[in-house]
Amino acid sequence: MSWIREGELTIIERFCANIIKAGPMPKHVAFIMDGNRRYAQKCHVERQQGHSQGFDKLAQTLRWCLNLGIREVTVYAFSIENFKRSKEEVDGLMDLARQKFSRLLEEQENLKKHGVCIRVLGDLPLLPLDIQELIAQAVLATRNYNNDVSESLLDKCLYTNNSPDPDLLIRTSGEVRLSDFLLWQTSHSCLVFQSVLWPEYSFWNLCEAILRFQMNYSALQKARDSYTEERRRQQMERDQAYVTKKLQQEGFASHGDSRRRRTLLQKCTAMREERIQGFLQALEHKRADFFERLCTVSA
Ligand code: IPE
Ligand code: IPE
Ligand code: MG
Repeated sequence: MSWIREGELTIIERFCANIIKAGPMPKHVAFIMDGNRRYAQKCHVERQQGHSQGFDKLAQTLRWCLNLGIREVTVYAFSIENFKRSKEEVDGLMDLARQKFSRLLEEQENLKKHGVCIRVLGDLPLLPLDIQELIAQAVLATRNYNNDVSESLLDKCLYTNNSPDPDLLIRTSGEVRLSDFLLWQTSHSCLVFQSVLWPEYSFWNLCEAILRFQMNYSALQKARDSYTEERRRQQMERDQAYVTKKLQQEGFASHGDSRRRRTLLQKCTAMREERIQGFLQALEHKRADFFERLCTVSA
């Protein structure tokens, strides 16, 4: 039986889901699934049992998301800091992750039919040396092209570049911090902190978080729009400054000939795009090499 698609919503849950779906819905939700050990303590069960129920709760939550039409979910299942826990706990968590995520990946093909995509992201404790080198090379190569370096380029360099920023981020267990999770990507997301421990998370908790997103929707949207507009304006300003400098070098007055200015502007944008694509491709290759080596070492 499928791990995700087991069971459907009850009538009352379906009814409420339909009401919620009438409002603006988050397309991408991120979860910091926290509180497994406190749950185990509260229920007088083994710690590993708390983690196991936490993974099962993830499966159930994915099913709710699917039913609510949320196609993209990112979860924080393990952090680099968590390696500082006892070896027994880390090994137990890794076993669970292997077991549960491989089942999830097996279902990927089936889920694709529903437009669901699973990506496993990892934060590395240190930037691999060759990626540091690549960045250093990029800094050297672009020192004459200051207008290449922008916040959107930084977006494109992150592992999350294929995915839109989360609209909603939920952390359970009453902790009100992000613990280094998606810091850059959530600057315009609705952050919801809930006191429920992760293994006890319910459909109603999810609905409450979505309602909070809906209540803040217009403010979030406005903030995002003005941020996008500001980025566009800054890029345009940098390009215009670059063109003005070029025109001056060619001996034109800074306001220049407007046709020449337009041509230069188009050329400058096209060349920037080409340099950026080259850089991103090189970054992608370095990453692929790095992960291949990592897999060979850990195999
Ligand atoms: C979150 O629950 C799961 C992981 C970090 C793997 P915790 O294990 O942090 O449980 P609490 O927060 O100590 O209760
Ligand atoms: C948070 O883990 C990250 C996960 C839920 C995987 P912790 O519960 O250990 O977070 P901090 O260290 O207390 O912030
Ligand atoms: Mg915790």
